[in-house]
Amino acid sequence: MSGVFITFEGGDGAGKTTQMRRLADALKRAGADAVVVREPGGTPVGEAIRGVLLGPEHGRITPLAELFLFAASRAHLTEEVIRPALAAGRVVLCDRYADSTTAYQGYGRELDLDFVRRVNEAATGGLKPDLTIVLDVDPREGVAAASEGGPDRMERESAAFHERVRAGYAAIAAAEPDRVRIVPRGSEDEVWREVVRLAAPVLERAGVRLGEEGA
Ligand SMILES: Nc1ncnc2c1ncn2[C@@H]1O[C@H](COP(=O)(O)OP(=O)(O)O)[C@@H](O)[C@H]1O
Ligand SMILES: [Mg+2]
Repeated sequence: MSGVFITFEGGDGAGKTTQMRRLADALKRAGADAVVVREPGGTPVGEAIRGVLLGPEHGRITPLAELFLFAASRAHLTEEVIRPALAAGRVVLCDRYADSTTAYQGYGRELDLDFVRRVNEAATGGLKPDLTIVLDVDPREGVAAASEGGPDRMERESAAFHERVRAGYAAIAAAEPDRVRIVPRGSEDEVWREVVRLAAPVLERAGVRLGEEGA
């Protein structure tokens, strides 16, 4: 038995948390309780790494150190939580995964893309999501919407950085069009309809059928 692995990607304030919550609720109504995790984080070790990575008080972290910290959190989460859940046939929803590292550390920080790919491959052990939904947003709108309690260390990056991240997601989707789907900005309900349209067939392959109200 093998579950379904769906990841949500996109800039800050794009609506990842909002849409994941809706999908988790729809899955619950469909009788398929999902495992919902976030990156960095999702485990006690991962949440501690998250504090280091996102706390503005930490100031500059070198791009390479940042890459490895994200990778460390991902390696731990993948082995401790995601793989066991998938092996048990469950649906796993993850708020950011390896594509975030490609977009932020690869395109945003401009680390060597092939090196970033190899680090991701090592951290995930080659695990790929069945579906990755990229919620597109203009970074000027997104970052403003995101920062409850003040901007975190990544949100404080320049507009040019966030534009490179956005372009990075477009490149990722172009390279793997079957797995990675970009949803254009719209109202929360418009985005939700698109999320259901993309997720339903993937979930159905694993025998999970979203109810009518999910659509
Ligand atoms: N499609 C949308 N249009 C406008 N605002 C939205 C939309 N989706 C979410 N929001 C709002 O934007 C803010 C950030 O949403 P959130 O889901 O936390 O984004 P993310 O997790 O991607 O950072 C929240 O206040 C949320 O209510
Ligand atoms: Mg969020």
